[in-house]
Amino acid sequence: MSLFNNMERYDIKSRIIVAVSENGCIGRRGSLPWHFSEDLKWFKEVTTGHTVIMGRKTWQSLGGKPLPNRRNIVLSGLLRTIPKGKTGNFVTWYLPAAINYVENKHDSYSREYFIIGGADVYKAALPLVNTVFLTKVPGEYGTGDGTFFPLWPLESGDWQPQWQISRESPNKLEFWIYKKLTQCSRFVDGVDNGYQCPS
Ligand SMILES: NC(=O)c1ccc[n+]([C@@H]2O[C@H](COP(=O)([O-])OP(=O)(O)OC[C@H]3O[C@@H](n4cnc5c(N)ncnc54)[C@H](OP(=O)(O)O)[C@@H]3O)[C@@H](O)[C@H]2O)c1
Repeated sequence: MSLFNNMERYDIKSRIIVAVSENGCIGRRGSLPWHFSEDLKWFKEVTTGHTVIMGRKTWQSLGGKPLPNRRNIVLSGLLRTIPKGKTGNFVTWYLPAAINYVENKHDSYSREYFIIGGADVYKAALPLVNTVFLTKVPGEYGTGDGTFFPLWPLESGDWQPQWQISRESPNKLEFWIYKKLTQCSRFVDGVDNGYQCPS
């Protein structure tokens, strides 16, 4: 592999994007427990032009249609195909395969990828990404029948809330960016040394 290719891969940005209530809720009965247009707008702004990776139930919650102007990758053992579209959307059953595909696909949609839910996919992705775009939703939702984000890793010493994005929010949402403090370096001076994570 050329130095250029290594440098390209080094630049790829891996993120989770999620909206979470104070008690960790992200969903209820297969859809969002709320409707906040400012958060939908934020999500669209941030993810457009990039790759989004989601679980099969999140895909279904979006009406089983690809999000436009994004490469959609759906994780599923049940689903076989989704409309390919202009961006080459597809299904795979294995999250690392999805990430590996993005890292090796040198096109504009692959410079950033976003894990967009749901709960199990977030859990599997937290060790693999270095940034979380977290919308804090005031109040408690989903008691008894909700789907929940694993907030405890973000509250451990491994992550830090680094920026609060200033945006208008009639519903008092807060838009935060968390960064992982323990970085794993893979490319040193353009040479692939494998992932070297501080213990
Ligand atoms: N608040 C937010 O930001 C937000 C974001 C996204 C979703 N949501 C909400 O969350 C709910 C859906 O989330 P969910 O947790 O129930 O389901 P989900 O994670 O979207 O989908 C679960 C399915 O995805 C596949 N899957 C999950 N983890 C996988 C992995 N590591 N590797 C491969 N495949 C994997 C499996 O599909 P198969 O069964 O086909 O094998 C699994 O049954 C909805 O209520 C939705 O509205 C909220």
